[in-house]
Amino acid sequence: MDLFECQGEQEAKKELESLYEKIRYHNKLYHTLDAPEISDAEYDALFHRARNLEKQYPHLKPLDTPTESVGSTVQSKFKKVTHNTPMLSLENAFSDEDVAAFLTRSKKLLELESKATIEIIAEPKLDGLSASLTYKNGQLILGSTRGDGTTGEDITHNIKTIRNIPHSLQPTDSSDIFPETLEVRGEIFLPKDDFLKLNKEREEKGLPLFANPRNAAAGSVRQLHSSITKKRPLMFFAYSTASSLTSLETHLESLDRLKAWGFSLAPDIKRCTTLGDILDYYESINQKRASLPYDIDGVVYKVNALNYQTKMGFVARAPRWAIAHKFPAERAITTLNDITIQVGRTGVLTPVAELEPVNVGGVMVSRATLHNADEIERKDVRISDTVVIQRAGDVIPQVVEVLEDSKKSRAEPFVFPEKCPVCGSHALREDGEVATRCMGGFNCAAQTKEKLKHFVSRTAFDIEGLGGRSIDFFWDQNLIRSPLDIFTLEERDAQSITPLRNFANWGNKSALNLFQSIDEKRTISFDRFLFALGIRHVGQVTAKMLALHYQTPEKWVEEMHVLSTENSVMSETFMRLTSIENVGHIIALSLLEFFKDEKNVCLLEDLLKALTIIPLEREEIKETPLTGKTVLFTGTLETMSRDGAKKQAESMGAKVTNSISAKTDFLIAGTKAGSKLEKAKKLGITVLTETEWRNFFEN
Ligand code: IVH
Repeated sequence: MDLFECQGEQEAKKELESLYEKIRYHNKLYHTLDAPEISDAEYDALFHRARNLEKQYPHLKPLDTPTESVGSTVQSKFKKVTHNTPMLSLENAFSDEDVAAFLTRSKKLLELESKATIEIIAEPKLDGLSASLTYKNGQLILGSTRGDGTTGEDITHNIKTIRNIPHSLQPTDSSDIFPETLEVRGEIFLPKDDFLKLNKEREEKGLPLFANPRNAAAGSVRQLHSSITKKRPLMFFAYSTASSLTSLETHLESLDRLKAWGFSLAPDIKRCTTLGDILDYYESINQKRASLPYDIDGVVYKVNALNYQTKMGFVARAPRWAIAHKFPAERAITTLNDITIQVGRTGVLTPVAELEPVNVGGVMVSRATLHNADEIERKDVRISDTVVIQRAGDVIPQVVEVLEDSKKSRAEPFVFPEKCPVCGSHALREDGEVATRCMGGFNCAAQTKEKLKHFVSRTAFDIEGLGGRSIDFFWDQNLIRSPLDIFTLEERDAQSITPLRNFANWGNKSALNLFQSIDEKRTISFDRFLFALGIRHVGQVTAKMLALHYQTPEKWVEEMHVLSTENSVMSETFMRLTSIENVGHIIALSLLEFFKDEKNVCLLEDLLKALTIIPLEREEIKETPLTGKTVLFTGTLETMSRDGAKKQAESMGAKVTNSISAKTDFLIAGTKAGSKLEKAKKLGITVLTETEWRNFFEN
């Protein structure tokens, strides 16, 4: 070995070690935490490079190379399931040459002449997460994730909420006998529109966003509570069975059989016989990609004949009879013309990149989300920069990075506004939160409608006949634009030339009924009134505690007036407030913010004049799923402060401790969680990630 080779090998060794570390790190983010930091294309590039080096220097390849393991190690929160047939991955092809090589290789393995044709089934490669469904005599008994390919997680409770998964197979005719055991493999995914809707809701709630529909789907099926999964409109497309079905000879026949038994298959599955067919298929699906309602990240080619598949067999992580032909990442370069701020329904301020319109994979993009202030700072995005745009997960354009041009002088760093661009109220970023929120509440046009819906909701004023949809109607008619308008509606209606009874869907009777139910709520308990105001962090329990403490709204308003005049977290009034059960620093700050705004105080005074508020009798606080449970937080929380999380848990009746024991019911593990997490796993305690904990509260 000469010196050059030796140096080359040493460098390769170093590079491989660094690649392995990166691949393992990104594997964990992708498979276990559902929170990738890099795009699939970037991950594929790392993987590809490691594979090439391993081919060049086979003796450097360790036994436990991540290039030959599938997926992730299994987290402990679900029961483990050992797959009877391993759930494998697919080799990737990135070019036409790679596909041609796959065909040549296949013919060689099958000992066919190079001119011979083999049937290939081409299918869309769905970008979700794979799942295995086990049926015993036609009945669904188990649903599991892939996990590391050998052992997955039992997610049966969540699988059963997916609407297009049959719980019982549908017989094709009266003589149809189902296999005693049938394992169906396929992909779970969240349609693009539903993903956008979900992220929008999360953005408004200040919750961390899912990077793409795949992560949203993965996060949804790995919920401890199926009620959360049920709310997410997940879908399942079957793509194979774990073992061949008796009397069937081809993959296409198996798919037909699955369809007949009630499974959904991806549309656009095609039989091909030549390389030309295959490449045309690839092109046609790539053209369709943007208009499909779900994400795909390539196409899959599979040898159709099942006996050929058996003959060809497997390598470590993938079958030799199939290959995934990946689409290139959709990126483009453009100029960032401006950064504007959008205010969502719940007051969250979202920065938006206003771009010089650019074509990204067939779609014109002129706006991209910048998520929040941290993202702008992390990527150091400034107005007039040249930026790389990516349609990640096929739908949401994002600014990936700034292209540095050393000759160009740059604009100053973007200063995130401290005032809401819609109403001019103070915009606050609370400790530990990623979101900045407008504090304007009812005074901010972007939020008023949502605030009104909360005001009339079941747990607040509970006005019969005045639900979310009616608020939409009255809002559109310009009849209700503030809570006070609800209580003057009847009076205004009597003088109106277009009274309510004249509107379609509002006969005389229903209008009178509505006025009567509004009248009934002119007298309301203090806690409901407090909760209805929608002051941030003042949930039902806190509202009860405040109502019990102050007894009358006048006393409360008086004290809050002093609080806002002193305007200090060191004031005695502030301290007094935090000494009330369930009221911590965060809630007290929120009350201070509310009362600092003159418009809120006016609204409150007007409402108090129009209503009769009755004091709350001391009574048992309602049971919650956390009543009496012992909860422990460990590690760094990214989206809330430790104190805030603690108060939140306590407001639901939980006991928050600092040390772990067998009596702990839930451990909420943030990042860099250490020995407590280890101990919790040993003790079999339920471990929740921060996101899961937030979901728990949300629901
Ligand atoms: S077949 C043994 N067909 O791609 C081969 N996989 O990158 C099993 N995928 O783990 C896979 N669409 O989650 C197959 N039409 C399709 C697919 C598909 C998406 C996923 C699957 C697999 C991953 C490999």
